[in-house]
Amino acid sequence: MALKNKIIEILETNRETHISGQALADKLSVSRTAVWKAINLLKKEGYLIDATTNNGYTLKQQSDILSSEGIKLYLSKKYKNFPVYVYKIIDSTNTQAKKMLTNGAMHGTIITAEEQSAGRGRFDRKFFSPPKTGVYMTVVLKPQKNVSDVQLITVAAAVSVLRAVKKLTGIELDIKWVNDIFLNNKKICGILTEAIVDFESCMAESLIVGIGINISTTYDNFPNDIKKVATSLFPKNISRNNLIAEIVNNLIELCDNLTDKNLINEYKEHSIVLGKQITYLKNNNKLTGKVIDINDKGNLIIKLPNGKTTILESGEVSIGSENL
Ligand code: BTN
Repeated sequence: MALKNKIIEILETNRETHISGQALADKLSVSRTAVWKAINLLKKEGYLIDATTNNGYTLKQQSDILSSEGIKLYLSKKYKNFPVYVYKIIDSTNTQAKKMLTNGAMHGTIITAEEQSAGRGRFDRKFFSPPKTGVYMTVVLKPQKNVSDVQLITVAAAVSVLRAVKKLTGIELDIKWVNDIFLNNKKICGILTEAIVDFESCMAESLIVGIGINISTTYDNFPNDIKKVATSLFPKNISRNNLIAEIVNNLIELCDNLTDKNLINEYKEHSIVLGKQITYLKNNNKLTGKVIDINDKGNLIIKLPNGKTTILESGEVSIGSENL
């Protein structure tokens, strides 16, 4: 590991604590000058590090740069060995995950970036991914289960985001079926789950769970077409490294317990479509109905105007008669 990464590991573990250059040099068996040079590199990368002759070095609380050391710090003990890749800029963390899978990426591989140049959303849409003001992350899962047994992974991903955000910020979020996350009726997070399936055995060999969260992108910075429908979390004080790790901790745990009834119940508690009149597309027809339940597979149970019920397994809905 490069010296600057070793230093950031120590500083991340001791935020807002003064650590002298000598203590760092002794601990890492290098000279104080080498420490000083590495600290300067970190500052150039954007780390907010106070340096004083008397007190040494301090990583400020508000310093929020993604790093694999910073993410690992908050991963549960049993997940500490998961490979974590952090990019300054990448086309798409999901696309990168697929590339890594061809080289045998393991269960729990985490890929994240400060910025995406070609972030992807559902239905071939783009996902706006500006630098440093969001979380763009992908987790590779290798569940070794039948496809039908991992359907709830999208539900698990949404619940993981809700739990992590609630724990770190106290903010309660809503879920718009199937897995858009909302705050005050605007979207703050989208989830794109892709799968590599063995057709012969119907086994889900790999799941690629991509999560994008607007953390501090301002209204003015959103492109015009999404200004009205998107917002950001604007948390008081959050470390994105911590948030990413917390989402992973929840996601891996839930992935092992997808049939636990509590999962779908938690999802339903936060659903903003349950009990609402919705508009949706089926076989290219625009239909309306009332969502009367969400079943154990995460499908919508819709009561139609003629009194019959229908099940919606996938697609997109809008509340009321909003345009789809
Ligand atoms: C959607 O809203 O339709 C889903 C958006 C998913 C965006 C995330 S950001 C990280 C990962 N990489 C991508 O290219 N997409 C997902």
